[in-house]
Amino acid sequence: MLLHLPQVLSRDTVAQCRQLLEAADWVDGRVTAGKQATQLKNNLQLPESGEAARILRTTVLDHLGTSALFFAAALPKKIYPPLFNCYTGETNSFGNHVDNAVRTHAASQTHVRTDLSFTLFLSDPDEYDGGELVIEDTFGSPRVKLPAGDMVLYPSSSVHRVEPVTCGARICCFSWLQSMVRETERRRLLYEMDMSLMQLRQEQIDSPGVVSLTSCYHNLLRMWAEV
Ligand code: NI
Repeated sequence: MLLHLPQVLSRDTVAQCRQLLEAADWVDGRVTAGKQATQLKNNLQLPESGEAARILRTTVLDHLGTSALFFAAALPKKIYPPLFNCYTGETNSFGNHVDNAVRTHAASQTHVRTDLSFTLFLSDPDEYDGGELVIEDTFGSPRVKLPAGDMVLYPSSSVHRVEPVTCGARICCFSWLQSMVRETERRRLLYEMDMSLMQLRQEQIDSPGVVSLTSCYHNLLRMWAEV
């Protein structure tokens, strides 16, 4: 399932993030790449240890923590501390690859099984040419390029790439997460149920049918969640 989450960050928050990112020193993006990806990855990345990265990570995680849509879709258990990348000039693409199944965060020695990957756009589409995130799916290969502040959530098991940026700069935040519900189909079912419940609750507040369906949702989650 590929999900577009609009306005995870407001325009003001994006502007604050961009100020920090534009003043920061970037390094070769291969610092966090696996063996296969090293051949394909050609971008810039913000060093994880800097003060700017710390503030930016906290900002993104705080906003994700308040998003009902993100929670419904991801059912997050562990989120790898978000990273920031830039595609521009000679360092402008990332060929077809699959994300590593397990990411180990060096500083905390935490392991995260990558069930879902996300990209949070911090540049607007009119700031650069190319740079589409292409996600190979059984239903086709969507080409994702979203407004600044919007996020795409997609299965980490998918083959994906970032097309060359031929003009301007594409700045994004990205990371991976381990879901409480490992199986994609179960997670999708829970997401659809949760979204329907949200809609029903808006229409008819806590009718017996809604209460009963809410109970089914929570009992399925209780059966499937690893916390
Ligand atoms: Ni990737």
